[in-house]
Amino acid sequence: MKPADLVPRPEWYPDRPRGGWLSLRLGMWLGITFTACFVTGLVSHFHQHPGPIQLPAGPVWAYAVSQGIHVTSGIASIPLLAVKLWSVAPRFWQRPLVGGVLRMLERGSVLVLVASAVFELVTGLLNVAGWYAFGFYFPPVHYAVAWLAIGAIAVHVAVQLPKVRALWGQPEPPVATGELNRRDVFRLAGLGAVVAAVTTAGDKLPVLRPVGLLSQRSGAGPQGLPVNRSAVAAGVAFDPDWQLRLLDRGAERVLSLRELQAMPQHSALLPIACVEGWNAWAVWEGVRLSELIADPAHVVEVTVRSPDPGGYGASRVSTRTLNHPDTLLALRLNGEQLSLDHGFPARLIAPNRPGAMQTKWVTTLEVRR
Ligand code: HEM
Repeated sequence: MKPADLVPRPEWYPDRPRGGWLSLRLGMWLGITFTACFVTGLVSHFHQHPGPIQLPAGPVWAYAVSQGIHVTSGIASIPLLAVKLWSVAPRFWQRPLVGGVLRMLERGSVLVLVASAVFELVTGLLNVAGWYAFGFYFPPVHYAVAWLAIGAIAVHVAVQLPKVRALWGQPEPPVATGELNRRDVFRLAGLGAVVAAVTTAGDKLPVLRPVGLLSQRSGAGPQGLPVNRSAVAAGVAFDPDWQLRLLDRGAERVLSLRELQAMPQHSALLPIACVEGWNAWAVWEGVRLSELIADPAHVVEVTVRSPDPGGYGASRVSTRTLNHPDTLLALRLNGEQLSLDHGFPARLIAPNRPGAMQTKWVTTLEVRR
């Protein structure tokens, strides 16, 4: 029996419980997960590209939560999108393929929607897995295509609105005896999304670690904390003559490790919250950044530099972050001197901030007033 809400399909194409009832429900969930991904992606973007929008320095866990939601909602979208494309597949065989201007615009928008949604999820997943199979620098491309995807979803919802209205509240169409019904397919897609989210979230919520079969991180690493970029990868070696240079108001001040250790030490419980979604908390100890700089309330920005030649070898600290009491030039981690992989002799650690901006192996603080 051919369900009433299926569009015409070629004879050879199998009849299955697809169509509007299922597409609408999956679409609504995809709308939620893609919006969550988009909003949290913007948060991450504004952290890394501070401009007129200055994000607050707290709460300390905010970036860990927002980036955890970003990666988890993206991963949960994968089974939802796969089943959604399966449920609308008969529409791809509809003719005419091209047609008039309106038809071409409508088909073009569906093409952009599918291509951008698949692109974001596949490249995002590869990036989280650390498999940089794509030959481009990920962040700007991921950011640009996110606008394309969210724009295409808005156009799609507008185009489908008459159908959404017609389908809203309609009972599930009947299926042939022995067939899976649409509600079961919908539940299976939801179960897939929950399983994908739970088995990858062990590196965000330690309580899920025992079932974190697909988690990217186990939480292990030197001094009990994972490392993304090791000293070897950054080409940084132990330097017995290390000194901190402080450039402010046209003058240079130099501080040795002993001098930093002799200053008042503060401790803070803060996470390393990676852009790839995982987070790990630790007790950091060191000198407050604001206590190293005269008149910190009147500083516009501090640039923190290291010898790491990579894209994350330096970072910028806003006035708000500089003046937060937990923003430290850390010298110790969990009660021990920092290991080289965690940024010995000194690293930046600050609240509500991507891990890539917690600069390790700090050599220079450049103050802008
Ligand atoms: C990532 C997000 C989404 C993707 C990739 C997606 C993809 C698609 C595709 C490819 C089609 C077939 C279009 C055609 O060939 O004409 C479709 C149909 C549809 N979508 Fe979505 N969609 C998404 C989100 C949504 C949302 C948020 C809603 C509604 C709230 C929605 C509701 C519908 C409806 C009602 C149909 C028509 C189904 C039919 O005629 O059988 N979709 N979607």
